[in-house]
Amino acid sequence: MPSWYRVVVWLWCLLSCCHSRTEAGTGAGAGAGEVLVVIACPPLPRRLQEGCFALFDSLREQYQHLAGVIPGDYVLRFHIMHELFNYWTLLDALPGQTRLLNARTEWIIWCQHNTHVASLRGLLEQLHSQDPMEAAYYGHALYDTEATIVHHFAHYKNPRWFPYPLLSAGVVFTGVLLRRLAELVALSAQNATRHSEFAIDASHELARFIFDNLTPDTDRGLKEDHIGGPEGETLERKIILKSAAYICPTALLHSSPETGTSKPVPCLLYAKPEMFAVLPSTLETRLQGQVHTTGSHIYFAIKTCAKFHKERIPIIERTWATDARHRRYYSDVAEVGIPTISTGIPNVQTGHCAKTLAILQLSLKDIIEQRDIRWLMLVDDDTLLSVPRLSALLNGYNHTEHIYLGERYGYRLYAPDGFNYHTGGAGIVLSLPLVRLVLEHCNCPSANAPDDMILGYCLQALGVVALPAAGLHQARPQDYARELLHLQPPISFHKFWNTEPEHTYRRWLGGSGGNQSVPQATDTDRVTVAGAVAPLPPLGGRLQLPGLTAGLGTAEKHLDL
Ligand SMILES: *[C@@H]1O[C@H](CO)[C@@H](O)[C@H](O)[C@H]1NC(C)=O
Ligand SMILES: *[C@@H]1O[C@H](CO)[C@@H](O)[C@H](O)[C@H]1NC(C)=O
Ligand SMILES: *[C@@H]1O[C@H](CO)[C@@H](O)[C@H](O)[C@H]1NC(C)=O
Repeated sequence: MPSWYRVVVWLWCLLSCCHSRTEAGTGAGAGAGEVLVVIACPPLPRRLQEGCFALFDSLREQYQHLAGVIPGDYVLRFHIMHELFNYWTLLDALPGQTRLLNARTEWIIWCQHNTHVASLRGLLEQLHSQDPMEAAYYGHALYDTEATIVHHFAHYKNPRWFPYPLLSAGVVFTGVLLRRLAELVALSAQNATRHSEFAIDASHELARFIFDNLTPDTDRGLKEDHIGGPEGETLERKIILKSAAYICPTALLHSSPETGTSKPVPCLLYAKPEMFAVLPSTLETRLQGQVHTTGSHIYFAIKTCAKFHKERIPIIERTWATDARHRRYYSDVAEVGIPTISTGIPNVQTGHCAKTLAILQLSLKDIIEQRDIRWLMLVDDDTLLSVPRLSALLNGYNHTEHIYLGERYGYRLYAPDGFNYHTGGAGIVLSLPLVRLVLEHCNCPSANAPDDMILGYCLQALGVVALPAAGLHQARPQDYARELLHLQPPISFHKFWNTEPEHTYRRWLGGSGGNQSVPQATDTDRVTVAGAVAPLPPLGGRLQLPGLTAGLGTAEKHLDL
């Protein structure tokens, strides 16, 4: 089947599926407010998509149990929103969602594949007690403990007061807010303040965009919401996330912050942790006819340079190297004692595009002599990993296909020339057929162009989807909210600065042997990406990077902190 045909079929399935899964329930008569439940669903892997359908089925069942007696007399609509192309951030998806919102939409409940709605009835009763005319949104509030690169160093003087929602727990918006937001994003994107061209954490970027660009309705009473931040006096002119006790990071009961008592509030919406079991090593050999992925199927290409041979390589050797049989240190200088392999490319401060392509070339030659290897992972010399958890993750993907897996960032997603890429420090996983594709078609606009971005740009042009892996991290544990690290077993962290790497390794990555619970895919999870690609542009030899990447020609734009 030609690939364009598969794409068409896939798109058709998506649209019709989307359509058939949009349901309107009938509540009361004319004038009744509407509640829209949106389930934002990633394209892959199938395991996550199944989460979306399970949530949809649960909602439909709960709706039927209401037997026409709807709290608040709301009209309900459920909608599965499939993530298409670049629109994985709520903000960038909004213009496409305006058709879902109408003047009667009072509430939007925004869910993800791993959100659980414990009680639809309870939730509707709760919404009925809230003010639908206020431009507001409600969620489980996350806070930074220090200024962090993943949030563009927002509020760096005092980052602790600014709340942003835990997306997987669900977020409730008033129609008033979401309509204004959609309007702003659609009509005046150029005029609105965006702090960065990079999309890293969709949740924080959404909260900040609302904070910076919208104000509460002035005719309505302004009050409360004094958080005591340095900007405290101006907060009443701002919209910040309202922390809602009924939206929880886990299924546990929460005490209500409003009443100050310990009276528990039931969690009506909460995030489901990724439920994975360890596969005992005795069972590792064969899983339904497919050889289970272990560390020995992965080739680790570690990018280093002479200045860090003594400082960083010993840390890797003392930590995750014990689980990484096939590892090579690629440097600007060959040092026999380690050993490192010279790429023949002089070191540069940032960028590394030429070096990374040279590493891929050398690695592929090296791999051809070792039959067992299925995956190549590019990492930095200050990346920490759990190889057992990584192996379990990769077990869910088909290594004979073009698989590009990592921590997904976006660049200029709001513009037509935007693209996704996997950020380098977190570790980038490529299936071997994809390594070959890259070497055939991608090249560097300049030697010090940002390697990870050029790779992402090139692969997007080749129609390869950047698949996000939630456990990979571009920064250190302290750069992420604890709730996030507890929801998903971490697979990698990056940067040793101000940390004790060996402690991080034991505390967050399970130490050697990775005995803690790890993501464990089953055979039914195995991903097929064949149909999920965008159309291939005609390729005559190497891909030329057009004007877009003029700005990417050098490392200036790179986010390699
Ligand atoms: C941006 O702002 C300018 C001046 O305020 C206005 O004339 C222009 O229409 C705005 N552009 C958009 C796309 O809203
Ligand atoms: C993996 O992909 C190849 C090529 O698309 C296909 O032939 C094979 O059946 C797939 N394997 C599994 C287990 O899905
Ligand atoms: C992992 O579990 C095995 C068996 O329970 C134990 O012998 C081993 O010491 C554990 N390894 C680590 C690093 O905890």
